[in-house]
Amino acid sequence: MDGATARRGTTTMLDAVDWRVELDERWVVLGPNGAGKTTLLRLAGAELHPTSGLVYVLGERMGRVNVFELRPRIGLTSANLGIRIPGDEKVSDVVVSAGYGVLGRWREEYENEDTGRAYQLLDQLGMGALAGRAYGTLSEGERKRTLIARALMTDPELLLLDEPAAGLDLGGREDLLVRLSDLAEDPYAPASVLVTHHVEEIPPGYTHGMLLRDGKVVAAGLLDDVMTAEPLSETFGLPLTVERRAGGRFTAYRRR
Ligand SMILES: Nc1ncnc2c1ncn2[C@@H]1O[C@H](COP(=O)(O)OP(=O)(O)OP(=O)(O)O)[C@@H](O)[C@H]1O
Ligand SMILES: [Mg+2]
Repeated sequence: MDGATARRGTTTMLDAVDWRVELDERWVVLGPNGAGKTTLLRLAGAELHPTSGLVYVLGERMGRVNVFELRPRIGLTSANLGIRIPGDEKVSDVVVSAGYGVLGRWREEYENEDTGRAYQLLDQLGMGALAGRAYGTLSEGERKRTLIARALMTDPELLLLDEPAAGLDLGGREDLLVRLSDLAEDPYAPASVLVTHHVEEIPPGYTHGMLLRDGKVVAAGLLDDVMTAEPLSETFGLPLTVERRAGGRFTAYRRR
């Protein structure tokens, strides 16, 4: 992104963001509610055009590329996608239908090869036993894992995860974190950008961080430089102490 700005009416959702993500990098984006994180992901996912500035996605310049050709190369999960999935949709179909860019299996007949890949991904995310269940019967954590399998179905070159751990209990979060961490450490996994509200939810293996506040970048760079007291305190507007524990996990709390 080169001065990427997104406005809607009088609201500046994202303000002149310069950002570059390399294929072997895994980024985490943090910032308060309304900071522009989802907007940033929508620009990166070719779902939104910048009002001004330049956005290149997988080397293609937005505005000059057919986004319908670009989108299958990007895996995206968000709460917004989750609520659009019909409750009676079979879990394996939620995943396999990603290859066709549709929600709902009834429109297409899928190849066995695709079904095999869907089962393999579900298995990898610990969802193998639930592949035949209806999506609506899954727990929140199981839904998140299904959506991640769906995002990976097309073998994307870029993976965008908007708050994948939101709403999970401690066990569900820790389980998801291990799986995201394994994915981050897989050299064949796609470049990834993960949005979260909590430094505790940064999966080990993530390499870079961006802090956003009021649509502007407060800090961006290597995780160890960015996830420190000063930039995080500035981002959230309160004095924070930040620690990185053995095993690569972060924790932050208010200084008093
Ligand atoms: N379609 C829209 N029309 C007008 N304003 C919008 C629109 N979409 C987002 N905004 C505004 O842009 C700003 C950034 O929103 P965005 O969803 O990117 O924030 P966020 O960092 O993802 O927040 P959260 O942590 O709550 O998900 C907010 O002030 C929001 O109200
Ligand atoms: Mg958001």
